Amino acid sequence: MNTDVVVRTFLDFYRERGHRPITGSTLLPPPSDPVLFTTSGMHPLTPYLQGRPHPQGRRLVNVQRCLRTTDLDEVGDLTHLTVFEMLGSWSLGDYDHPQSLRWGYELLRDGFGIPPEKLYVTVFGGDEQLGPDLESLHTWRESGLPVESTRDENWWSNGPVGLCGPDSEIFVWTGDTVPEGSPTTDPRWVEIWNHVHLRYERDEDGGLVPSRQIGVDTGMGLERLVSVLQGRRSVYETDLFEPWMRRVPVLWELDERSTRVVCDHLRSSLVVLGDGVRPTNTGRGYVLRRLIRRLLTVLRRHDDSRTVSDLPVELVEHTLDHFRQSLDTDTVREVLLDEERRFTQLLERGRRVLSRPEFRGPLREEDYHYLHDTHGLPRELVAGLVSER
Ligand code: ALA
Repeated sequence: MNTDVVVRTFLDFYRERGHRPITGSTLLPPPSDPVLFTTSGMHPLTPYLQGRPHPQGRRLVNVQRCLRTTDLDEVGDLTHLTVFEMLGSWSLGDYDHPQSLRWGYELLRDGFGIPPEKLYVTVFGGDEQLGPDLESLHTWRESGLPVESTRDENWWSNGPVGLCGPDSEIFVWTGDTVPEGSPTTDPRWVEIWNHVHLRYERDEDGGLVPSRQIGVDTGMGLERLVSVLQGRRSVYETDLFEPWMRRVPVLWELDERSTRVVCDHLRSSLVVLGDGVRPTNTGRGYVLRRLIRRLLTVLRRHDDSRTVSDLPVELVEHTLDHFRQSLDTDTVREVLLDEERRFTQLLERGRRVLSRPEFRGPLREEDYHYLHDTHGLPRELVAGLVSER
């Protein structure tokens, strides 16, 4: 099943069950939003999940591009990406959570052909404030799937305040052996789909109040699902990354993890650029700048002469096409090269300053502050230079 078929199968399944496909938003939330980037499919739908009528009705489905920096240090493993796509379905005060779980199981088993013995689910087991999610527990028991209860792992919120609720996650066995253990004991159980029961809002004081409208919000990482369905060890070995993994290892000789980081950060930077962000020293632009600097650091670890000007235009086009973005490739090149130049200058300045006698030993907290405030050297960069010596 290639990625297009996977997406179509998902959308068709929900369309047949009364959901209207809606166009995904860009990575940029509306100006009033406190968050820099869209981090999940529900994010742009927040007002509708809180009760405002949606023009397309109460059952929605889509594919939404998302960006998460919380997982940045995990990027480079088999499953985490900075920019990824989320397949989402929603009930805006319409059907209940058990219905969502049953459809989820049906789609994975019958639509995508995942054998039930390779599935495991988790449910909210309760905490000091709330009891266990017995409704989900019973629904899964009826279906015959193995269930594990957890606490914090099965609570979802989109931020410190606002909509939240218990969730139920579906895991797929990715090991080479027969399934063993459970999601909390064996990492070969990989989470692919989260079904959230949006029943609460957390207020400014941390208290929970019932939400005005009870909704269901599901999100499934497209790349992970595709890697499972294509029988691949990692998201980088799917058709989505095929041109990247064909071109990048030939261009730059890196270890496997570094290759993945470079591919992820470059691809993510392209999508962020495609949504109109440019590198700056604050906000979204700074996230982009950090991504580019991180990838340059990895790229040049063993060879200072490597440059993003060698990035094949095919990869830029492939990414912008996939995300239906219309940025021209010359602009992409100019921005990346400009960042590379700035970064090179910064590194040179950093090396010069750090070679002074007062910075030869281990750096103290106030050294980092001084280097940042007086010389404009970001902590990450200084730490990188220190680890080089
Ligand atoms: N909003 C939920 C998540 O991102 C589905 O996991």
